[in-house]
Amino acid sequence: MSRLVVISNRVAVPKARGAAGAQGGLAGALNSALRKNGGIWFGWSGQDCEAFTGDIHVQRSSDGVTTATIDLEKQDVEEYYNGYANSTLWPLFHYRIDLTEYEREFGKGYERVNERFAESVLPLVEDGDLVWVHDYHLMPLGERLRARGLKNKLGFFLHIPWPPANLFVSLPYHERLVKSLLHYDLIGFQNDTWLESFLHYCAKELGAEVDRDSCTVTLDGRTTIARAYPIGIDYDHFMQKGATDEAKHAEERLSLSLRGRTCMIGVDRLDYSKGIPERIDGIGRFFDEHEDRVEDLVFIQIAPPSREDIGSYQKIREELEQKCGQINGARSDVDLVPIRYVNKGYSQEELFGFYRASKIGLVTPLRDGMNLVAKEYVAAQDPEDPGVLVLSRFAGAAQQMQDALLVNPHSPDDLAHNIRLALDMPLEERKDRYNKLIGTVREDNVLRWTQDFIGDMELLG
Ligand code: F6P
Repeated sequence: MSRLVVISNRVAVPKARGAAGAQGGLAGALNSALRKNGGIWFGWSGQDCEAFTGDIHVQRSSDGVTTATIDLEKQDVEEYYNGYANSTLWPLFHYRIDLTEYEREFGKGYERVNERFAESVLPLVEDGDLVWVHDYHLMPLGERLRARGLKNKLGFFLHIPWPPANLFVSLPYHERLVKSLLHYDLIGFQNDTWLESFLHYCAKELGAEVDRDSCTVTLDGRTTIARAYPIGIDYDHFMQKGATDEAKHAEERLSLSLRGRTCMIGVDRLDYSKGIPERIDGIGRFFDEHEDRVEDLVFIQIAPPSREDIGSYQKIREELEQKCGQINGARSDVDLVPIRYVNKGYSQEELFGFYRASKIGLVTPLRDGMNLVAKEYVAAQDPEDPGVLVLSRFAGAAQQMQDALLVNPHSPDDLAHNIRLALDMPLEERKDRYNKLIGTVREDNVLRWTQDFIGDMELLG
């Protein structure tokens, strides 16, 4: 088995608190791959410094994963992380050109940091290592590594959607970005929709030769393989967490607090792509239409803050606080608060317990590469009395999870309607849907995902 060099913006900090889903699926997924293959995980330390030194901090975590990190300059963090990655690419790739900022300095910072990553990681790579780069922060890295003489097999996985060509062309220098991406040998997407958008762009805008049978894109004499590899959860690991006292205690703690009412739960990083304010509108609509049921239902939204230096994230937080406040103001009583909005993260054990105590899981992003909260929610259910997953049709996960109640997250009516269906769903139908969903959650897990991707990298010529 070849050693793995995983490169991503963030590396998982051992024993960090926070939901796997809420942190983003990337951290948990990569940790599992490295535990299995051995190798190094390289990325940004999350710290800033006055002047870039290129010093590498190496750490070995208790589960045997070696991480190597670099600090970035304040200006790097501003222009690369807060700037190009999260104020340009993130909104654009989630179809939000209204929030996308096109600043020249952001682009320069992005190029500079990708160059710094290339320079720093190269000495750590040995002959025969598979080099696997992750996500939108590091699209040009492959080209930079090749320019510095790297000969290893080189793969890239995009964890977020790929937008339709007519949105993507709003990005200045879009051709340059995609041409640099085509220096990878293998590019993975979360599902066929994002893959198809990418292939369509390559053919239409770059004039590349796209062969859908062999999944190849050829441009300027170089051929790249592009395929869909839907990511899953670390099922066994998550189930072990669910068997702990901490998980049982969390389930009991939440159940006791409900005093007989039904719990509906949402768990997301506080991000505008997750559709949280729209979800609250749907719940408001449900209460308006079913006044008699306000006392039956408690909605818990767990939303740890994210990317707090960026204006659009500050705005979404204010909007959400206002909407929750409005509904609670109008619908609360001395012993009843319909929405519990919690601004912090929890351990995986606690989340397992919370999911299990919740008879409805509301996972309604406006756009999402995959969404692992949907899979964790299903995994945590009691097979004899499972809850109902209400899932956005715009989450990548919807392609595999057709037996959830699929909703349009933009429509308060559709959300309200599906909340009612979920609340009133008979046990037989709940079991039937659960039995169909749990198969894909269990089988299409993160180990299969890494095996599929790494297996295809090994096969590269
Ligand atoms: O899944 C997308 C992603 O950007 C991951 O790369 C990242 O781990 C997660 O979301 C959380 O974002 P951030 O690292 O910006 O906090």
